Amino acid sequence: MNVGGTLIAGPAKTGLSGKVSVPGDKSMSHRAVMLAALADGTTEIHGFLPGEDCLATAEMFVQMGVSIDWLNNEKTSLRVHGVGLHGLKKPSNTLDAGNSGTCVRLMMGVFAGQDFDVTVTGDASLQVRPMQRVADPVRNMGAVVEGEGDLLPLTIQGGKLKAIQHVSKVASAQVKSCVLLAALYAEGETTVSEPRPTRDHTERMLPLFGQPVSVDDDGLIRLNPTGKLTAPSEPVYIPADPSSATFFAVAASLVKDSDITLERIGMNPLRNGWKRILSGMNGDMSLQNEALVGEESVADIHVVYRGLNGVKVNPADVPDAIDEFPVLFAAASLAQGEFVLSEAEELRVKESDRIAVMAEALQLAGANIAEKPDGAVIVGGLLQGNCTVDARGDHRIAMAMAVAAQCAESEMTIENAAAIATSFPDFVPLAQSLGMNVRWSEK
Ligand code: S3P
Repeated sequence: MNVGGTLIAGPAKTGLSGKVSVPGDKSMSHRAVMLAALADGTTEIHGFLPGEDCLATAEMFVQMGVSIDWLNNEKTSLRVHGVGLHGLKKPSNTLDAGNSGTCVRLMMGVFAGQDFDVTVTGDASLQVRPMQRVADPVRNMGAVVEGEGDLLPLTIQGGKLKAIQHVSKVASAQVKSCVLLAALYAEGETTVSEPRPTRDHTERMLPLFGQPVSVDDDGLIRLNPTGKLTAPSEPVYIPADPSSATFFAVAASLVKDSDITLERIGMNPLRNGWKRILSGMNGDMSLQNEALVGEESVADIHVVYRGLNGVKVNPADVPDAIDEFPVLFAAASLAQGEFVLSEAEELRVKESDRIAVMAEALQLAGANIAEKPDGAVIVGGLLQGNCTVDARGDHRIAMAMAVAAQCAESEMTIENAAAIATSFPDFVPLAQSLGMNVRWSEK
């Protein structure tokens, strides 16, 4: 686990102001490098997220013989020399997904199609996260997956795959994408159905690489493999990550006199739950410069301070905001009235148990939050701060508490925050540029 790294945060001295570009979308960065590596030809990618999670995915392909040219020092632009669906080589070592669930779960679909075996592991947090949800479907397709209790480390022996009709019990884009990637190698049409729609970046990106994916009116996803992926002739541009933008949108909604603009944020409706929930909490957000980037829409989001109120979250919005609940909990603890979240038990198996860890941290800061098995009830009010909380190596907990601290009465110390580097390496300097009071401790 990414331990260490202490943040000192809050309270904000003035309203937040300015324009920022947050880094590229994490989910799309993983998928872009995966499809590019498996395509015939060379793909240029711009707007890649140079966080540890996406770099772990890129590194896995390097270990399997794919060559990647980084086009700038920041590692936001790259050229991937694809080797085709059947061109990967057996890696000489165990592959390491680090902290990234998306990396390992999607790659399980790729490993399932190879004619060699791979052993994959991850950090301490990833080693306790459930993998059966991806091990079972790839087993049904014909791969052999071995590992104690279906936890990492796992060894996957790929093989000749057959198509399946996968009915997912969890609303998980990682599970869906794992099956769709394995389906590229299978004989016949694979279908996936999910209990609620989840982010559809894989379905949108595969056609750019020449592989159609269709979705029936009832949401059933169908993939008939064409037998190859082809590098697109135009570069792939990745929009800015709405999950990273949410930290600043919430901070600006909470801190008096704030007025900020977040540039070219991904507006995919299946990622926009945070915006619907924050609007329902009275957040003042408006869109400017709406545009299309590839198959995804983007817009600048103008956020102006307006005090927030609590809300009962519509369970249908949960998958579309699944990564944003830590910071929405922070917002709720500073809003007026009650915030109720249910049907969100998936939060307990993220990079940390996000219901328990946020409840512990916010209670230490003075919040009124009651944990529920599948969510939380938060009665908003004041946060005293003046406490030391533990982010438990979970990037989104660290950033959410840094946002909460902006409206606390006194400073907070946030320990084990180094994991911010997995998804948003420049969070602190960007937050400072908007006027947030946050810094790394020298100690
Ligand atoms: C992701 C899917 C979500 C999300 C994760 C990224 C993806 O996970 O929490 O951060 O890129 O597919 P689940 O599929 O487990 O819900």
